[in-house]
Amino acid sequence: MASAQSSAPPSGVEIVGSGSAIPEKRLTNADLERVMDTSDEWIVQRTGIHERRVIDHERETLGAYALEAGQKALADAGMAPTDIDMVMVATMTPDMPTPGIASVLTHQLGMGTIGAMDLNAACSGFVYGMNFANAAIQSGMARNILLVGADAITRHIDYSTYGRGAAILFGDAAGAVVVRATDRSGPGLLAQAMHSDGGGAEVLYVPCMPHHIPEEQGQDDRKITKVQMNGQAVFRFAVKTFPQLIEETLEMVGLGADDVQHYVCHQSNRRILQAARDRFGLAEDKLHVNIGELGNTVAASVPLVFDELRRAGRVEPGHRVMFLGFGAGLTWGSSLWQI
Ligand code: UT7
Repeated sequence: MASAQSSAPPSGVEIVGSGSAIPEKRLTNADLERVMDTSDEWIVQRTGIHERRVIDHERETLGAYALEAGQKALADAGMAPTDIDMVMVATMTPDMPTPGIASVLTHQLGMGTIGAMDLNAACSGFVYGMNFANAAIQSGMARNILLVGADAITRHIDYSTYGRGAAILFGDAAGAVVVRATDRSGPGLLAQAMHSDGGGAEVLYVPCMPHHIPEEQGQDDRKITKVQMNGQAVFRFAVKTFPQLIEETLEMVGLGADDVQHYVCHQSNRRILQAARDRFGLAEDKLHVNIGELGNTVAASVPLVFDELRRAGRVEPGHRVMFLGFGAGLTWGSSLWQI
């Protein structure tokens, strides 16, 4: 199938499949205690994280995980790779600067010469991708889209006491969904928001050259190609922005917080997610947290939560699902769907 076709807008847009690919290798808090000055108690109390999964960067590629998640999502949707007419991969850590993971994936899956691109909005990437997938289908640009969120951020972590602020948070993984046009008028995107603030670029970034590091943060070769994070600044940004984003999205469609069955959020830190639950008085089974076992997996975290819910049979036709992401850039965004 080619993605150069144009057709009338469909009645609806539905999410018909999901899949996850999670590395086998576990990195527990006890493992971190052995290589840096930290403790299980400190990490759990500050973040809710007990362990993360990490890619073996010497032998594995992120592309292989994106492929596995994509194949599972297609199988779940009951669709063949050749049914897909556009592939998007949200990632900030492609295996190589070029080619993008998406175009390699289309070849591996025998999808032909369809449109394929990577998009980078850090931890918001998958949520942005949901909005662009909807727009592409509504415009007639595509009918069946495979959207993957994948990151191998641990490649950019300094596992020493010097890098411990970021080292405790992150893990690697890939998650995917299939989104397609439908003649049914019920399902589809109800509201979306996308924001950015480059004025906050320096609170979370990966410098590639010494001059990328702001003078006031201090030159140090150990910082090059490693995640630099002002944890407190990111925490403040997230705790403030996250509820605002939920409110903004609900207001667009005149819904209350309880009218949404599932809040599928970027897993940044258990305390940030708990603050949002408390703010809206949401039950635990509405705003999901799986950070304890997987850590913060950047663009993969949202599709991983969604796939977990689908596999548990908890996402039903007619449910409203709000996807929420926020992270480096700074970027933040929402995507509210009716299933
Ligand atoms: O996708 C978005 C990704 N980022 C986030 O969501 C990050 C949001 N921020 C956070 O989750 C928290 O800021 C952290 C968990 C990263 C850090 O917690 P915090 O309470 O903000 O700690 P802090 O950076 O203010 O540091 C407090 C103390 C410092 O020691 P002193 O100066 O008080 O003696 C740090 O050096 O804790 C120390 N510290 C650690 N101690 C043990 C920093 N990292 C560690 C560590 N283990 N891993």
